[in-house]
Amino acid sequence: MKNYGTILVTGGAGFIGSNFVQQAVAAGDTVVNVDLLTYAGNAENLADLEGNPRHTFLQADIDDAGAMATVLKEHRPRAIVHFAAESHVDRSIISPDAFIRTNVHGTFILLEQARQYWSGLGDSERSAFRFLHVSTDEVYGSLRPEEPAFTEATPYAPNSPYAASKAASDHLVRAYHHTYGLPTLTTNCSNNYGPFQFPEKLIPLMILNALEGKPLPVYGDGGNVRDWLFVEDHCTAIRVVLERGRVGETYNIGGMSERANLDVVETVCRLLDQMRPDSAIGDRTNLIRFVPDRPGHDRRYAIDAAKMARELGWQPATRFEDGLRQTVAWYLEHSRWVDDVRSGAYREWIRQNYEERAAR
Ligand code: NAD
Ligand code: TYD
Repeated sequence: MKNYGTILVTGGAGFIGSNFVQQAVAAGDTVVNVDLLTYAGNAENLADLEGNPRHTFLQADIDDAGAMATVLKEHRPRAIVHFAAESHVDRSIISPDAFIRTNVHGTFILLEQARQYWSGLGDSERSAFRFLHVSTDEVYGSLRPEEPAFTEATPYAPNSPYAASKAASDHLVRAYHHTYGLPTLTTNCSNNYGPFQFPEKLIPLMILNALEGKPLPVYGDGGNVRDWLFVEDHCTAIRVVLERGRVGETYNIGGMSERANLDVVETVCRLLDQMRPDSAIGDRTNLIRFVPDRPGHDRRYAIDAAKMARELGWQPATRFEDGLRQTVAWYLEHSRWVDDVRSGAYREWIRQNYEERAAR
C-alpha cells in the first residue's frame, strides 16, 4: 500500500484509533495523533510507539477550533482520519450531552478547520487531501430478521442518542463535500472487537467478568444480532478507502459474521473454559444472567460490504471464531492493561449501568 505521508488521526488513543495508528506507523506512515484522553482514551494503548519518530501524540479537543487550527498549520497533514467520538450506546442513553458536543459539534469544528486548511493548500496538495470520517452502521436503524443487510443506499433511521449524533455528523461531512467540495470519504462499519477495546462493550466486558467468575449480564432475551468485525480488518479497510476510495462516497464495512448476543457470550465462555479452566467457577455459561433490556434496543444490524469488495477489492480476512480466540488470548496476556483501565471511574459506570438497571 502507498505511503501516505503525514496523517492526522483523531481519537487515536481509543480502541479502533489506537489499532489504526499502530497499523499505519508499521506500514511507514507518519501519524499525528490528537486525542482528548476522555475515560475511553488511554495513552497505554500507544506504549509500543513510545520514542517512535513517526508518531506524535497531542492531547487536544476536536471541539477546540484554535487547537485544531494550530495542529493543521504545524503538521500540514495530507489526510485526516476522524475516529474521535463518544462511542457507547448505554452512556448515550444515560448522558447524551457529551455525544452532541463531541460527535456533532466537534465534528463540525474539525470539518470547518479542515476546510480552511485545505482551501489554503496549493493545487496538487489540495487535490490529494482527504477527510475520512469513521461512522457506524447504527445510523441505519434496526433490521427485521428477514430483511437484507444495510447497503450505502439504506435510508438513515438512527434510534439511540449515539446513533443520532453519528448520523448528524455523517450529514455534516456530506454537506461539506457537496457545498464546499471538501474531499471527504465516509465509512460505516459494524461492531468491532479485538485488542484494546474498553471493557464497557459486550465482548471485553464478558471476557473479564467470565474470567473472574462474575455474572454475565445479557440484555433482554439475548437474541439481538450484531455483525462482528475484527478491528485489524477494519483498519485495513480504512487504509484501502483512504488510498483508493472515490471522493464524496460512503463505504459500508462489515465482518460477514452475524451472531446473536447469547451465542457470542456462550462462545466467550467456552473459549475461557478451554484456555483458562477454573474448577471453582466450573462451566462459565452458568454465569449468564438475563437483565432488563436497553431502552430502544436495536434488534439486528448487518452490513452488505459488496461495494468494498467490488470497487476496492477488500473483504474481511478473519473468521469470527478465530478473531474471538485471539481477542480472549490478548486479554489474558494483558492483565496489567486491564487493571489500569478498570479505575474508579470504570467501577462507577458498572454500578450506574448494571446495579441501577432494574430500577429504570
Ligand atoms: P472509543 O470510545 O474506544 O475511542 C474514542 C476516542 O476518542 C477516545 O480515545 C477518546 O479519548 C477520544 N475522544 C472523545 N472525545 C474527544 C474529543 N472531544 N476530542 C478528542 N478526542 C476525543 O471508540 P472506538 O470504539 O475506538 O470508536 C472509534 C470510532 O469508530 C467512533 O467514531 C465510533 O463512532 C466508530 N465506530 C465504532 C464501532 C465499534 O464497534 N467500536 C463501530 C462502528 C463505528
Ligand atoms: P455494545 O458492545 O454496547 O455495542 P452496540 O450497542 O453499539 O451494538 O453491545 C453489543 C450488543 O450486546 C448490544 O445488542 C447490547 C448487548 N449487551 C448486552 O447484552 N450486555 C451488556 O452488558 C452490554 C454492554 C451489551
